[in-house]
Amino acid sequence: MTTHTDRAADTDAEQIIGEFYSEFPYPWHATRLTAPDDPSHHPALLAQELGDFTHRRLPPDARVWVPGCGVNQALIVALRFPAAQVVGSDVSTDSLDLCRTARDQIGATNLTLREEGISDAPYRQEFDYVVCTGVIHHHPDPGMLLARLAAALKPTGVLELMVYNAYHRREITAFQEAMRLLGREQDLWFARRVAGSLTRDSELTRQLRADLGEPEEQFADSWLNPCERNFTVRTLHETAGTAGLALEAPCASPLATGLDLYDWRVPCDDAQLRGRAARLTEVERWQVTQALSVDRSPLLWFYLRRTDNPWPALRESDRDEAFLDTAFVPVTTSERVWVMGRAGGYRPLDVPQPLVAGPAPVVPWLPDVADGERTVRELLTDRGGVPNRDELRDLRIRLTTPSFPHLRAVSAPSAA
Ligand SMILES: C[S@@+](CC[C@H](N)C(=O)[O-])C[C@H]1O[C@@H](n2cnc3c(N)ncnc32)[C@H](O)[C@@H]1O
Repeated sequence: MTTHTDRAADTDAEQIIGEFYSEFPYPWHATRLTAPDDPSHHPALLAQELGDFTHRRLPPDARVWVPGCGVNQALIVALRFPAAQVVGSDVSTDSLDLCRTARDQIGATNLTLREEGISDAPYRQEFDYVVCTGVIHHHPDPGMLLARLAAALKPTGVLELMVYNAYHRREITAFQEAMRLLGREQDLWFARRVAGSLTRDSELTRQLRADLGEPEEQFADSWLNPCERNFTVRTLHETAGTAGLALEAPCASPLATGLDLYDWRVPCDDAQLRGRAARLTEVERWQVTQALSVDRSPLLWFYLRRTDNPWPALRESDRDEAFLDTAFVPVTTSERVWVMGRAGGYRPLDVPQPLVAGPAPVVPWLPDVADGERTVRELLTDRGGVPNRDELRDLRIRLTTPSFPHLRAVSAPSAA
């Protein structure tokens, strides 16, 4: 599904979007930034999310690119990958300036910032990991940008991508269209006035009024964006294929988990329907989940791989089996913390803090008994047995991934 406002179609799309995000840099500064003391922590947990419990998929000293990094993201990634060299690129001068100031306050020497658009970025097979979230849908030709991201990846590399889910954006797309026709598509004052004066009781009115309380950048990012092309699983899969990429696995990002929009299980309790869904390809099953969940479908936040990637392509069930056959220990790393002071500017906390592990483990006893010797299958069997496929997947995600960093593998075999 393609939705749009069309001002960007015939002119320099990256210049327009850069000017927009210089007027409304996104997002606002993080109030708290953290860096794990163990430089291998984040790459290892990310590898685990891809089913590699040997942690070879992403080296700690990776080369990383964060295109469309905005105000915080390149710095967040550089702190998570302290042994990596990270490049952050953006077309918004003001966003890059804000990011540079924060980087220099914190002293993150592994981050280079560049003012450049994805469409003419010069990288060829350079990066082990590319993170691009909330960016390519702001271009009239997102497929062309995706092909640039694919070209920048090493064949073995991992792309983390988030694009807008068309089923989440109906009201926003409609409002952007109305503002465009009224000739006021980037007028924040006008949009807020319209939002406060709509007379019909609709979902649009409800959402707009709720967002009136949000910070200006947030409101503008959603309701005033000059260009937006939204996706379904099907159109993302097709666009990725044209760019030489394939969807590899859903990513349970902190945003998706925070909004409870990361669960790709088919939302129904009819055994026959579930059985039928289980026989579909993964992409088809994700499509069904999106279609049957509509506005509550998961965020389109995925890991992608080049189609010439030599690592074995895994299904979710392969990852679940590898999880069962692996022994883990609880994650124990601490992290350094910086907090935003009242007058602006980051200051470090004096002592390292225990790593915040996100929501409590879904099976709280498991991290307590994980001894690095017995596999998850053995531990579960001791306590009543291995759960069904859907529950097992949920268990794996909510114990071993970067958003739920409770367990770190110490032994093979890995599915990858
Ligand atoms: C919604 S913000 C997302 C920021 C960041 N990725 C995050 O998730 O926090 C989109 C950012 O992408 C940048 N951007 C949009 N299109 C771009 C392009 N073609 N090349 C480089 N940067 C782009 C914008 O300037 C803006 O800073």
